[in-house]
Amino acid sequence: MLTRLLKASVFTSLAFFSLNAGGFDAQAQKDKKELVKYFEAKFQNPYENKNRFFPYSTDEELKDGYAKGLKHMDFGIGSYSYAKDAKQQYEAIKEFPPYEDKIEEGEELYTKKFANGKSLKTCFPNPAIVGEYPYFDTKTQEVISLTTAINKCLEANNEKKWNTKKGQMAKFQAFLAYSTAEAEKNMDIKIPTKKAQEAYERGKEYYYTQRGYLKLSCATCHIQGAGQRVRNEKLSPLLGQITHFPVYRLKWGSLGTLERRMSGCIKDQGQVPPKDDSKKMHELLYFMAYMSNGMPIDGPDVRK
Ligand code: HEC
Repeated sequence: MLTRLLKASVFTSLAFFSLNAGGFDAQAQKDKKELVKYFEAKFQNPYENKNRFFPYSTDEELKDGYAKGLKHMDFGIGSYSYAKDAKQQYEAIKEFPPYEDKIEEGEELYTKKFANGKSLKTCFPNPAIVGEYPYFDTKTQEVISLTTAINKCLEANNEKKWNTKKGQMAKFQAFLAYSTAEAEKNMDIKIPTKKAQEAYERGKEYYYTQRGYLKLSCATCHIQGAGQRVRNEKLSPLLGQITHFPVYRLKWGSLGTLERRMSGCIKDQGQVPPKDDSKKMHELLYFMAYMSNGMPIDGPDVRK
């Protein structure tokens, strides 16, 4: 009896300990697992899954237009993982990527001296860090995005902040993304505390909240709608959606940050996007990045 009691109490204290030592991402891990399961099922065979996932698509399109048997890591290239025609065009463009010289310009910014003699390199001694952002800062109790961290570094050194959507910010991030991909690092987002868990939950809520007169949420298009055609593109999946930024968009004719792309999506919904350095944007990114945990960083990339 006594040994049984002892065993029980050792067991409960162990469970208690593990919860405190890192159980704050239990829900997030579960969410991610479900998401992977959903996308693998959906794109296992779109034609055979027509009734469940693609009731409004034609048989012909489902038979010929989609790749089959996709697994978790395949989703890292967004809609090109399943959109067959678009993938061919994408691969052709990637042979001479239009962002190549931007990576070099970004590298120059990395070591360019501030007026005080320091540089971005002083703030970010290792450039292979894209997979660790956004992170939860346990000192200030807030989520910090890569874009915000770069601007904080500039400000702390009495330099002017950069535009968060394009130009130097996008080029510098292209260099960081390239360095991270070269180092073969994956998305690696941590949820270290209860407060971090709450931030994750708020980001998730934003993602699933319906807005505007069409009552659309990010999830309507990028989970349930993923694979559906909108105008001449297939919608990309939340899974792996942000592992490849910044992107050079043919439509922009330039390189842009993740915030630039997302703000476009939110404006298309008829909404005012949250500011790029706001808590709302940071927490939304935190949720999205966690969903891609474990997937390789492969930015910068190119999009239509
Ligand atoms: C009405 C549908 C719709 C809604 C709602 C929507 N998007 Fe999009 N989104 C698109 C389309 C269309 C594209 C371009 C095709 C693609 O890559 O998905 C896109 C692209 C993106 C991309 C770029 C993907 C890539 O691989 O380059 C991101 C990131 C994104 N959306 C995030 C969001 C977020 C976050 C929300 C919610 C705040 C949202 N979207 C809401 C339609 C939508």
